[in-house]
Amino acid sequence: MRVLITGAAGMLGRQVKEEFTKRGATVYPLARKDLDITDYNAITKTFKNITPETVVNCAAYTNVDGAETEKEVAFAVNGLAPRLLGLTCRKYNASMVHISTDYIFNGQSKKPYLISDIPDPINIYGASKLMGEQGIRESGCNYFIIRVSWLFGLGGKHFVDTILKLAKGRDSLKVVNDQQGSPTYTPDLARAIADLSGTGIYGTYHYTNSGITTWHGFAKKVIELSGLTTKIEPCSTAEFPRPARRPMSSALDLFPTTRVLGYTPPSWEDAVEHYIKNYHTMED
Ligand SMILES: NC(=O)c1ccc[n+]([C@@H]2O[C@H](COP(=O)([O-])OP(=O)(O)OC[C@H]3O[C@@H](n4cnc5c(N)ncnc54)[C@H](OP(=O)(O)O)[C@@H]3O)[C@@H](O)[C@H]2O)c1
Repeated sequence: MRVLITGAAGMLGRQVKEEFTKRGATVYPLARKDLDITDYNAITKTFKNITPETVVNCAAYTNVDGAETEKEVAFAVNGLAPRLLGLTCRKYNASMVHISTDYIFNGQSKKPYLISDIPDPINIYGASKLMGEQGIRESGCNYFIIRVSWLFGLGGKHFVDTILKLAKGRDSLKVVNDQQGSPTYTPDLARAIADLSGTGIYGTYHYTNSGITTWHGFAKKVIELSGLTTKIEPCSTAEFPRPARRPMSSALDLFPTTRVLGYTPPSWEDAVEHYIKNYHTMED
């Protein structure tokens, strides 16, 4: 199996590389310097050289607040580039795995979002990622679009490390308690990506760790597991205005993912415990 990974130096990209390598695939992990996914000529050249059977697009513009001002870059990387990759996948008969986001939804639902729910992004990042999904569907390639949320893992900028860094040396920390969703641990996601792509059951999927929490609940668990004594106090989104609006409730329903995979993802609490015990040192 020849697997091309874009954005391979990113948080998810490096985990996907590890997962496919572990499974014995021939992996081509391309960082941005090796392949800029907004460059159609470069994509064509790369496909010609590598002739991948599977392409996992882990490249994205992921600065949610930055996208509000860097609108054009966000739409080029998240909106247009997936279409370019999809068209090239179709031409070379490769299947495409693309990672999308809970932020394509408006967050007003009282229930976890189904794959069939209508997207309605409330910020530029979400709108750009939705355009990317549409581009892939229209490209005519065989695709897996996997929507994920609240990623954390090794080698990236994420909430768990941020909380640990902020908590050190402080008695208390305020964390928003009115946005809910589900954390997703990159090693668990990478396993699901490799498993799903092996099924040949193309389509749109949701994948997160099991369970729903708030950022406040997430932070409390992180502190508890790390042995710190910092008090995590609840506060509202309104107390911490950010350039981009966030969906208030963006939990994702995992049907049909769990059925196709044949297993339920580990709980988010177990995932945080695994990360803190195995990878996080208090010197970080
Ligand atoms: N992080 C989350 O909480 C979250 C939540 C929901 C969905 N997602 C989605 O999950 C996927 C993986 O995210 P992540 O957290 O692993 O992001 P990440 O760590 O920011 O990695 C993204 C990678 O893409 C690269 N990249 C940016 N523009 C590129 C271009 N034009 N060509 C090639 N590479 C480019 C970046 O390189 P530079 O570092 O050089 O810019 C970076 O290495 C993305 O699709 C993201 O939208 C993430």
